[in-house]
Amino acid sequence: MSEWRELLQDSQARWETNADYWDDYMGEESNQFHRELIRPYTEKLLNIEEGQSILDIACGNGNFSRRLAELGANVVAFDYSTRMIERAKSRSESFLDQIEYQVKDATKYESILELGEQRFDGAVANMSLMDIADITPLIKALNQLLKKNGVFVFSITHPCFQNPGVRTINETEDFDGEIINRNSIQISNYLTPNSYKAIGIKGQPTPHFMFHRPLSYYLNSFFAEGFMLDGIEEPSFKKVKDNHKFDWYEIPAVVILRFKKL
Ligand SMILES: C[S@@+](CC[C@H](N)C(=O)[O-])C[C@H]1O[C@@H](n2cnc3c(N)ncnc32)[C@H](O)[C@@H]1O
Repeated sequence: MSEWRELLQDSQARWETNADYWDDYMGEESNQFHRELIRPYTEKLLNIEEGQSILDIACGNGNFSRRLAELGANVVAFDYSTRMIERAKSRSESFLDQIEYQVKDATKYESILELGEQRFDGAVANMSLMDIADITPLIKALNQLLKKNGVFVFSITHPCFQNPGVRTINETEDFDGEIINRNSIQISNYLTPNSYKAIGIKGQPTPHFMFHRPLSYYLNSFFAEGFMLDGIEEPSFKKVKDNHKFDWYEIPAVVILRFKKL
């Protein structure tokens, strides 16, 4: 499968345009999605120990980098949006001795290797691999960047359920004396990799690019570099009673995977 290097510049320009809006929206606490789905399960899979060196890939405004620092980690965090890194730095003044921010492109193999071979106990990429135009150099580099038995934990929009053209459906039915409320989704594209434009946060100045890859593509890319899959979470929101709009509670919106370097 070919990746989408031809969209790299455009995708970067779009994140640069969206950076201030994104950071204003996420703020210090980040959104409900991040707080309830991403953070707790990512922390569980990462299992941070005091003093560990952790790499935060495509860190955005650094909200998780700061959390890693709170948990006692020494963090190197990078993103290819200069503005996003400026925002991340300005929010991280109380963590200057624990977080080093850099502007770096995850698709540039040699450049990411400069972060330090065999340096990291763990690496994390929250909700970003599906935004990266080419993930092959990163997976290859992770093999060099991590120590033996180091882990890489990443969350992505669930490729089985959240992919280009997915339609969410909420139906109400008066069935046998009971009002039944049912959520479902309609999928017409899964196996074919696809680039598409998407809105992550309502009102963002410009849509950003997303890159759909089936689950087998992600897994096989890591297996090919000698990683072992040893953890998985499919978190979902709690069911809200009598909610008459679509909710991600039975169908997981994200998947979080942990790969170990052997
Ligand atoms: C959805 S945001 C997630 C940010 C952060 N990890 C979080 O969870 O809040 C995706 C991030 O990926 C970054 N990104 C996309 N492609 C990248 C690349 N090739 N190299 C570095 N960062 C990239 C974007 O600039 C953006 O900050």
